[in-house]
Amino acid sequence: MSSALSSRPAPAKTAPFFQERVLTVHHWTDKLFSFTATRDPALRFQAGQFVMIGLEVEGKPLLRAYSIASAPWEETLEFLSIKVPNGPLTSRLKLIQPGDTLLVGRKPVGTLVTDSLLPGRTLWLIGTGTGLAPWMSLIREPDVYDRFERVVVVHGVREVAELAYQDYITRELPAHELLGELVADKLLYYPTVTREAFRNQGRVTDLIENGRLFADLGLPPISPEADRVMLCGSPAMLTDVTRLLEARGFAEGSHAEPGHYVIEKAFVEK
Ligand code: A2P
Repeated sequence: MSSALSSRPAPAKTAPFFQERVLTVHHWTDKLFSFTATRDPALRFQAGQFVMIGLEVEGKPLLRAYSIASAPWEETLEFLSIKVPNGPLTSRLKLIQPGDTLLVGRKPVGTLVTDSLLPGRTLWLIGTGTGLAPWMSLIREPDVYDRFERVVVVHGVREVAELAYQDYITRELPAHELLGELVADKLLYYPTVTREAFRNQGRVTDLIENGRLFADLGLPPISPEADRVMLCGSPAMLTDVTRLLEARGFAEGSHAEPGHYVIEKAFVEK
């Protein structure tokens, strides 16, 4: 007589991706959009991590790495994307509508996590373009506010319209039922624009070098003793800011050896 155990069918091979449903799509500009999708409860991630996402194209999965913009406690997933003319994925992804299927990888990873940083007083989240995405997750993660006395989001873009989530960060988040008090107490936001008039202007590199960033925020210049930095943006921006940090004595951190700063390239489709 066969037991119930031995007669159970072999487990189905785990599908490589979750199949999620697009819930909302928001176009910020003709080059930038964000969207939300359902989240399989089995998908676990830390704030700041990225995951492979994409679409099935001609019967095959087409995926790229995207930072998760939603917080780990949220029921839905959120992503911020550029639209690259003729980009194999983004030229299709920009057309998605609520109800469409989004492929989501099973294994979020990445270095922009607080565990890769030594304890410090102020956490600087410096991003250009879609490099804002991981900060949107981190600033909605209560643990970040437990670890740091102050959290500063610096977002550099070319044009004012590219300051995605500006209204959310300055109005909605400080009024959030659960996070509002922490955010109002600890979060500072510094948007800066390079190719249009705006109250803050210039590249983050210049603003660090000339001290404008710190003067405007009323904070002391960054030091490895007190400050921790996460960077996300174009390779050129990462190289240039890394150089400024290293000159000030900052050491790069990793999961194996936490340090003063961590970096990750923002996704740019060629
Ligand atoms: P700029 O307008 O002077 O090039 P992009 O859309 O090209 O990723 O740029 C986003 C923002 O990052 C822009 O404000 C851009 O400034 C800025 N940026 C580009 N390269 C660097 C760099 N090497 N260091 C600092 N900021 C940069």
